[in-house]
Amino acid sequence: MKWLAFSALLGSSQAALRFGCSTLTIQRLDPLVEPGALPSAHLHQIVGGNAFNASMSGDVGEQGTCTTCTFSEDFSNYWTAVMFFKHPNGTYKRVPIMQNTALPNGINGGMTVYYTQQDFNSNGNKKITSFKPGFRMVVGNPTINTLDKAKSNVGLRFVCLENKGTRFPELPDFPTKPCKGGIMTVHHFPACWDGKNLDSPDHQSHMYNTGKEAFQNAGPCPASHPVRMPQVAYETLWDTTAFNNMWPKDGSQPFTLSYGDAKGYGTHADYLFGWKGDSLQRAMDSSCMFQACENGRPLKSQAVAAMNKCGIPQIVREDIDSWMVKMPGGAM
Ligand SMILES: *[C@@H]1O[C@H](CO)[C@@H](O)[C@H](O)[C@H]1NC(C)=O
Ligand SMILES: *[C@@H]1O[C@H](CO)[C@@H](O)[C@H](O)[C@H]1NC(C)=O
Repeated sequence: MKWLAFSALLGSSQAALRFGCSTLTIQRLDPLVEPGALPSAHLHQIVGGNAFNASMSGDVGEQGTCTTCTFSEDFSNYWTAVMFFKHPNGTYKRVPIMQNTALPNGINGGMTVYYTQQDFNSNGNKKITSFKPGFRMVVGNPTINTLDKAKSNVGLRFVCLENKGTRFPELPDFPTKPCKGGIMTVHHFPACWDGKNLDSPDHQSHMYNTGKEAFQNAGPCPASHPVRMPQVAYETLWDTTAFNNMWPKDGSQPFTLSYGDAKGYGTHADYLFGWKGDSLQRAMDSSCMFQACENGRPLKSQAVAAMNKCGIPQIVREDIDSWMVKMPGGAM
């Protein structure tokens, strides 16, 4: 995302959080779209607090005992579909996840999470209101199947990595050539709230997106969704490099998302708020940026070993790592 250019623009600012979370679990669970389902339809990587389960509810910040995120008061859960490689011989292998750049070394997979402001040029002008206990949302939709619709979801992108620092160009779908440094998926959530609903039937309409293409400031929130929330975004780095020498001879793109999407048009992500007490509001009201928010200034933080130690049991017991004829859940 934006972080190379922006530190220079930040004058007297409000907070910008950027932090790593290691993998909490990779399994077929989805308390948001398919609550109670054991298993859910497709495989996810989930990071964050260990209160995560198939049917969670209530104030998640008060339920967890550990988190895989740097900020130890953040028991939120963050998840996306995972990526598979489809070999020309017809079998699938899960693509490993690697840690991002600009994070402390040794993080086990996971993703980078951002909570930022609307507008980096006029920071401090807008109040950013924290999500409330029980808040949840989804961005993107696995049923989207056209390039035009994927393009219009400006916050959902793929980047063909030369190295871990590559951020351009952002693509609406999978890169069509082997990527030397792997593939990054980027998910920006909408940041305007209706001020009333913690969720909605489609898990989206309580929120409104005024985000624009990368490196541009979001537009103002509309009257229907007047409350400016933090701009939440995920970056996940997929280590596709071991598969580059197995690229299909016919030139076709061999990667697919776990619900059976080899275009990437249906890329989506889930968020379930779980910061303890008023910790996120205090952070958004402060003027800290990135690592400077750690060590109690104002957020409590933990070292990588503690992040990596946190996990949950494999509730859905199934093979997710061998070469398989179908992806877990049967998608092809
Ligand atoms: C899931 O979490 C909820 C609280 O959110 C708890 O009441 C329930 O017992 C948990 N279920 C399991 C199977 O752990
Ligand atoms: C497909 O190719 C992979 C990678 O070489 C190999 O491990 C696997 O056994 C092959 N599967 C079949 C059914 O040929």
